[in-house]
Amino acid sequence: MKKLVSIMVTMVMMTVMLTGCGGSSSDSVIKFGTNAEFPPFEYVTAAGVLGEFDGIDMAIAKEIGVQTGMEVTMENMEFDSLLIAIENGQIDAAIAGMTIDPERAESVDFSHPYYTATQVMIVDQNSDIKTAADMADKKIVVIQGYTGELCVQDLGYDYEAFKKGTEAILELNNGKCDVVVLDSATAKKYVKDNPNLKIVEDPSAFEAEEYGIAVKKGNTELLNKINTVIDKMLADGTISELGAKYSENE
Ligand code: ARG
Repeated sequence: MKKLVSIMVTMVMMTVMLTGCGGSSSDSVIKFGTNAEFPPFEYVTAAGVLGEFDGIDMAIAKEIGVQTGMEVTMENMEFDSLLIAIENGQIDAAIAGMTIDPERAESVDFSHPYYTATQVMIVDQNSDIKTAADMADKKIVVIQGYTGELCVQDLGYDYEAFKKGTEAILELNNGKCDVVVLDSATAKKYVKDNPNLKIVEDPSAFEAEEYGIAVKKGNTELLNKINTVIDKMLADGTISELGAKYSENE
């Protein structure tokens, strides 16, 4: 009995040592974080490309793993929490249709841009909103912490912020608001699922935005690896193929 206990203690110690001195294990894993509430870039599904996660970003993250030979994990969290999670080391990188903006770039480093989008207005088919200025006296909904919120703030209009795109669309469908301001590709996806809605664009009010992958400030080793894969996927057309695939099928 004594012997058995000591074998077990030894085994436990070995396990602790194996995982404890694991520079090796953390070096070969990229811990990604996302907010899987943003089709066609990331959403939860029964069988996705990365476990329960699917979308353009998830396919890119998977390919980063393949090309670098590193294991990839994906953690789903609130969009608002992603930058903090990078800063405190909970995740190595955020891939979340995240717009590269100067304010965010003060706390994290961004990869090369891999997708261009713009804010659009989602309204009822019968809405009379034709430009951003038409929102002045309307009930506006945005998603908390998204660049769309900043745009509406800049325009100086009042708004209500929801946590998820789906909640905002529900509010619109229930007639409780007049317009949802959201990224173009995600807006298209929602409008496709809700034929009573339409998209209104106003390029003079909403500038183009570029999505990038965020890493901890100064983590050039990981950033270089990510950039190499992004550059390749842009050059060989993989990213535009993914864009087409996920916009059509989902
Ligand atoms: N592009 C917008 C931003 O950076 C929205 C991104 C939302 N992404 C998400 N995975 N929920 O603020």
